[in-house]
Amino acid sequence: MTSRAPAKIILFGEHAVVYGQPAIAVPFETLCATAEAVVAPRKTGLIIRAHDTGKEFRVLREGRTTHALAIAAQLVLREIDAPTLDLIINVRSTIPVASGMGSGAAVTTALMRELSRALGKPLEGESLNKLVYEIEKLYHGTPSGIDNTVIVFGHPVYFIRGTAPELFSVGKPLTLIIADSGIAHSTRETVGDVRSLYDADTPRITSILERIGALSQLARPAIEKGDESAVGALMNENHTLLAALTVSSEVLDRLVQAATDAGALGAKLSGGGRGGNVIALAQPATAERVEMALRDAGAINTWQTVIQR
Ligand code: MEV
Repeated sequence: MTSRAPAKIILFGEHAVVYGQPAIAVPFETLCATAEAVVAPRKTGLIIRAHDTGKEFRVLREGRTTHALAIAAQLVLREIDAPTLDLIINVRSTIPVASGMGSGAAVTTALMRELSRALGKPLEGESLNKLVYEIEKLYHGTPSGIDNTVIVFGHPVYFIRGTAPELFSVGKPLTLIIADSGIAHSTRETVGDVRSLYDADTPRITSILERIGALSQLARPAIEKGDESAVGALMNENHTLLAALTVSSEVLDRLVQAATDAGALGAKLSGGGRGGNVIALAQPATAERVEMALRDAGAINTWQTVIQR
């Protein structure tokens, strides 16, 4: 059997979510991480093969290790109080790294899901989410938890840090085009830069963060009702506010502009910013044109997806 975990897209509220504002994220099923457990010969122990990086680790329940995947496996072994067994877990991912689509959280989720399943005590829901978050902290410092939550639950989520995630449904399918700028970005760095801005001018930054939170509050009923024009307008405003937080860039602004000029209902950067990806909301009839425009404007890769749950 193979366990999987999807990529994620933040529709509204990145960065503001770190400060307790609501945010909205959806799974992006086209790209995913997978983990496949294969029984190994006796005395092999637990081996993780990360095929994308060509790395391989032997995991001991209590041994000292520094690699995030090995730590993730140890967390599972301790959580379900299992001895290590003779198992090889093959981990693969189609999610571009450092693109703002949650590749780290997805790989961790797939691995933990598969290992716990192979051990006969499948971890799911909040118990899995809690463990994936521990690994997210290794990658990102003090993440809000939105990435692991949407990836673990695989469902659109309205998320406020420190509260139970609210899963909700879209009223009408949303056609999204995702464009990878090809520029790797560090979420840790952009989150840190927003923190410095916040410390330097708390009242101004607070009002931007609160407005972003208000956009998420307005977006949820608009998505639930299927009011695409309203959702698009809110995305445009969200992008402008992210630019005011200095996490956009010339390239991301150009992609957003190209999508809007080609008829997108709205567009914004998604995730940590300064690189990574841009998302555009289109009508099915204009999706192709918007996608071409994003490619012409320099996106190294684009995907169309329909969010319909
Ligand atoms: C990164 O995908 C989203 C950020 O809001 C960081 C976080 O929520 O931890 C930028």
